[in-house]
Amino acid sequence: MPFKIAVVVGSIRAGSTNRKVAEALTRLDAARGHTFTFADISGLPLYTEEDDETQAPEVKALKALIAEADGVIFATPEYNRSMPGVLKNAIDQASRPYGQNSWLGKPAAVFGVSPSAIGTAMAQQHLRNVIACLGMPTLTQPEVFLQWKDDLLTEEGTVGEGSADFLGGFLEKFLDLVALHARA
Ligand code: FNR
Repeated sequence: MPFKIAVVVGSIRAGSTNRKVAEALTRLDAARGHTFTFADISGLPLYTEEDDETQAPEVKALKALIAEADGVIFATPEYNRSMPGVLKNAIDQASRPYGQNSWLGKPAAVFGVSPSAIGTAMAQQHLRNVIACLGMPTLTQPEVFLQWKDDLLTEEGTVGEGSADFLGGFLEKFLDLVALHARA
């Protein structure tokens, strides 16, 4: 069964390594037949409760994308041992207004890449805490802590040979989780 997957990348910079790896993930064999749509979180206003009843078009578009999705993949950088503010802002925006949390019940997977050996481990733990609070059943294994190295991706933007099986397995397990929740 083909699924619609929303991809939320916690870096809005041109040349983001997290975005590159997320795009490569969607080119793996396991991704075939499914639709992956990248959320644009770069134009979201900063969250304030005052806007709950008059959400910006960018917020409404994000909420609509998540509402349509069968599952969500988060790719997070690590900023100062946590997730970047732009990602937390996007999550907060789509969680509101109160009672209209777009993330609720959506199966999720988390991964991240950084130049350091820690591979975004702490950012991912913070992110897992937040999405658990929002009611997202989240893939627990495998954990994907990636260190950015030249051979992680090929020049064509596909996953390098050394990581293809690992990341393919991650994607397959996530799609199994999505299927489980689609049946429920
Ligand atoms: C970083 N970086 C970083 N890396 C890390 O492994 N742990 C950390 O705590 C931090 N902290 C941090 C703070 C700030 C403000 C910046 C700008 C950067 C480095 C970060 O992992 C690196 O810039 C990545 O390349 C960011 O991801 P994208 O933009 O390539 O997807």
